[in-house]
Amino acid sequence: MRKLIGPFSQIVTMNGLPLKGTLHDPSLEVIEKGGIWIENELIVKIGPFEELIKNRQSDDEIEELGGDYVALPGMIDAHTHICFAGSRARDYVLRVGGTPYLEIARQGGGIWDSVTKTRQADFNQLLSQTGTRALRLLNDGVTTAEVKSGYGLTVEDELKMLKVIREVHQNQKIDLIGTCLAAHICPKDFEGTQKEYLTHILHELLPKVKEEGLSNRIDIFVEESAFSVEEGDFFLRKAKEMGFSVLVHADQFHPGGSQLAVKHGAVSADHLEASTDKEIALLANSDTIAMALPGASIGLGVEFTPCRKLLDAGAALAIASDWNPGSAPMGDLLTQAAILGAYEKLSFAETIAGVTFRAAAALALSDRGTLETGKLADLIAFPTNDYREILYHQGKMRPAKIWKKGEFIS
Ligand code: NIG
Ligand code: FE
Repeated sequence: MRKLIGPFSQIVTMNGLPLKGTLHDPSLEVIEKGGIWIENELIVKIGPFEELIKNRQSDDEIEELGGDYVALPGMIDAHTHICFAGSRARDYVLRVGGTPYLEIARQGGGIWDSVTKTRQADFNQLLSQTGTRALRLLNDGVTTAEVKSGYGLTVEDELKMLKVIREVHQNQKIDLIGTCLAAHICPKDFEGTQKEYLTHILHELLPKVKEEGLSNRIDIFVEESAFSVEEGDFFLRKAKEMGFSVLVHADQFHPGGSQLAVKHGAVSADHLEASTDKEIALLANSDTIAMALPGASIGLGVEFTPCRKLLDAGAALAIASDWNPGSAPMGDLLTQAAILGAYEKLSFAETIAGVTFRAAAALALSDRGTLETGKLADLIAFPTNDYREILYHQGKMRPAKIWKKGEFIS
């Protein structure tokens, strides 16, 4: 059955914009008084509502909107860690009291604390907690999210996490893309060197991840408290040889990871708060998407990723929430992207591109991220007649309506 939705005061399609570099708002395609025909989960036609409605047939459904709404593509949060158990409020109190994140990690808090709690949670407990967060994402207008493992750090617990992520994807309307982050840190109870841990993952875990079709994406945290550039180099080479696509938690506190990401053709290099002009130039001259995580900067009270410089140099910039129990507990992509945009002087087009089609590219999803014929009918509508109002309210104007694959969610 076909369905026509509209009229929207404006549809900002995000169509026809380049993947890389700066974007200016006058280049946005804005359809005034627009409508969208949907059939079998896809957009089949988009244009002025009055013209589209002329093609109406007797059994077509018309979802007529009263009032002002601006439509955007559903947001894509391409970096989250929403599969976890427990809270790290204790870490947060220490951090705002002045203890650095890496020092808390050295004292046994940080990621290891979440690993301990996530291991203790059984499958159903983790499923319920992850499912609640996934539902919140969708209600916030995020129609696709990436979710990492990385709080299990044994073969069994990493598989448990990836299976939870798959089950939430299957049971809920939001699409979740799982990523294996078994190389988050070397677990404190692993008997062996860091390199032996990575070898263990490569031999014992990744073949199972592949066999069971749990993920085709491998991530690693390259940082002082996690894995060195040399260890990362070894791991990424092997993971690529096994046929995985790779990505890196890079340059969060010290530069290094992004060079590796570019060297190994990573789909994305994420964080980049500590990237210097050298790393910015490398990323700009590569096909690796630079992923800013403003939620981690806000959560840790550190500088934002140099987004303005990255875009001016010609990089592709995506923006994600990094929702996790430690460094980024807020998990509110729209608010974070709006705040990042204000600090980094991003145009509306650059900010929204970062949470739509540029984020889709980081997940290698070519079927979403813009509103155009042939794409998934994942869309959100804000209660205004002027798209500029959306980021102006810095996250407080929420999507009033959300459709996932054409289905009205709320
Ligand atoms: O992306 N940087 C490493 N990993 C996560 C943090 C996870 C945590 O603190 O639990 C991040 O910020
Ligand atoms: Fe992260």
